Amino acid sequence: MNGILYFSSTGNSLYIAKKVQERFDGKIVYIPKYEGEGSEFEKLFIVTPIYSYGMPAHVYDLLPRLDKSKEVIIIQNYGGMSAGADYLIYQYAKKQGLNIISVYKLKMPENFTLTFTVPKFYLNKALKSADARIDKILNMIEEKRCLIPKKQKTREQKYLTNKSNWHLIGRDFKANENCVRCQKCISVCPVGNISLVDGKIVFGDKCVACLGCYHRCPQKAIQYKNKKKKFRYFNPNIDENDIGKDI
Ligand SMILES: Cc1cc2nc3c(=O)[nH]c(=O)nc-3n(C[C@H](O)[C@H](O)[C@H](O)COP(=O)(O)O)c2cc1C
Repeated sequence: MNGILYFSSTGNSLYIAKKVQERFDGKIVYIPKYEGEGSEFEKLFIVTPIYSYGMPAHVYDLLPRLDKSKEVIIIQNYGGMSAGADYLIYQYAKKQGLNIISVYKLKMPENFTLTFTVPKFYLNKALKSADARIDKILNMIEEKRCLIPKKQKTREQKYLTNKSNWHLIGRDFKANENCVRCQKCISVCPVGNISLVDGKIVFGDKCVACLGCYHRCPQKAIQYKNKKKKFRYFNPNIDENDIGKDI
């Protein structure tokens, strides 16, 4: 059986993981809860968003422990600018001794939207055309058309600096007066960084900047700094409650 290992906070990567499963079968596994090395699977698909021209912390931590004998296919998705992120993850995975067969990347709706709103027409356009981009990649995989990223400039230093600062972002979040203490934010956080203390939602210092709490709060009550932005996003083509599950 294939292992389709994914990280996702707003569902784009899960949507892609489900498409991979439809085409190639396999078990969809949520990386933050996965403690294995992938040895139980035939082939490994890693489906991940691009974060700061690199990858989420959970993916960065997973790759070194994966079984070196398995074929690994990486599918990255991003909101606007990938800037060498495919070469960065390829180089990093190679350094860990992984058997990387291919790295594919595709555009999906942007979720790093703390300070701006994605116009509706733009969002809908990105969603509508996503299936064609996903299918193109799945066809390439089926036809064994491997894609190894060309040597190019990456933003590795910027990525590593940003990654080391992600934990600080928790300080900039608060649950505002719209919070009804449903504790959804607590359950969606992949690192247990949010808790209810004396009836108040409190953010700790382990944030990985995935913005799951921000986007998925049913009341839109998680606020970044003093911004009053209303725009929130999760992929409408999946059941939001599936994000974080193994399927
Ligand atoms: C912390 C963070 C950093 C991001 N950095 C980038 C980036 O460098 N380039 C980009 O195009 N999109 C970036 N994005 C957007 C996501 O890659 C994109 O929206 C992705 O589809 C989200 O996947 P998900 O819905 O599975 O979580 C970033 C998102 C977050 C939360």
